Amino acid sequence: MQTLTITRPDDWHLHLRDGPLLGAVAGFSARRFARALVMPNLRPPVTTVALAAAYRQRILAALPPGTNFRPLMTLYLTDATAPAEIDRVRASGFVHGVKCYPAGATTHAEAGVTSLAHCRAVFERMEELGVVLQLHGEATDPAVDPYDRESVFLERELEPLLQRHPRLRVVLEHVTTRAGVGFVRAQGDRVAATLTPQHLLLNRAAMFAGGLRPHLYCLPLLKREPDRVALAEAATGGEPRFFLGTDSAPHARRAKESACGCAGVFSAHAGLELYAEVFAQAGRLGRLEAFASFHGADFYGLPRNQTRITLVRDPWPVPASYPCGDDELVPLGAGERLAWRLLEAEATP
Ligand code: NCD
Ligand code: ZN
Repeated sequence: MQTLTITRPDDWHLHLRDGPLLGAVAGFSARRFARALVMPNLRPPVTTVALAAAYRQRILAALPPGTNFRPLMTLYLTDATAPAEIDRVRASGFVHGVKCYPAGATTHAEAGVTSLAHCRAVFERMEELGVVLQLHGEATDPAVDPYDRESVFLERELEPLLQRHPRLRVVLEHVTTRAGVGFVRAQGDRVAATLTPQHLLLNRAAMFAGGLRPHLYCLPLLKREPDRVALAEAATGGEPRFFLGTDSAPHARRAKESACGCAGVFSAHAGLELYAEVFAQAGRLGRLEAFASFHGADFYGLPRNQTRITLVRDPWPVPASYPCGDDELVPLGAGERLAWRLLEAEATP
């Protein structure tokens, strides 16, 4: 049987949630990934290092016994974040960036920044201390078409931000367009991007295939086929400034299948296997390791993992759902087959 053994990967964009939902999903990431950059969009949001420390303890307590998974924390940027909080980030050793949600851009982004211009002093401190900014790159002007929000953000917000702060290190999270990929390529080493499995595997037709499919609704939205092709080229092309970030964003079935459903695709159940499909389709499985295990760690200045993990080509059916309290989580690829399976027994701790 065909196998693929690689350095254990990291997930550079993950929503672990809190409470029972955290308990339902944490094990999926811990089985595959050595580390994950944990998003701070809880309610209330994780706005301080003290809140991040407490959240980190809740994550560690929710992990299955014997797992060796390290949550890397982020802070939620608001208009009120003080530069002194950035000093505490740098000193903490466990907070690895500051996440910026333009106010109202996505799930739990109500407390986000109303204008990047309000955060000048914080960004200056981040430049000085080398703290990474993780950016949800979508314009929030309601007049902008939802499919154009990323490209408009690049022009109106990101380009000026990078000019105002020439040393600020930025990750354009879940880049979804050809324009976004081109924008990142045109920048220097201080700008990188994460790529999700759903944007690499699917285009926007998937959300409307045979009817409305709420479990494929995420933000940013799935885009056109030429965008998907450009993302797959960036992921599989060996370029060091593109790396794995699932954006696994679980919401219970009831919250997704509703008259006003939540944005977010749950993918942690197969957080590495889904990418293996993308690399296999491109005939570039040999490049999965660098994308999944090297590029992110290198960008964040963290050591690469030392342990290894094995995938085996042994098609398996993705369950229609996973249990979640008195509700369920519907995973990406529900009811379909994935070619690559995690070989649990041989995954070294
Ligand atoms: C995320 C969530 O549910 O927290 N949703 C999503 O569609 N990706 C928020 C985000 O990352 O935009
Ligand atoms: Zn996200």
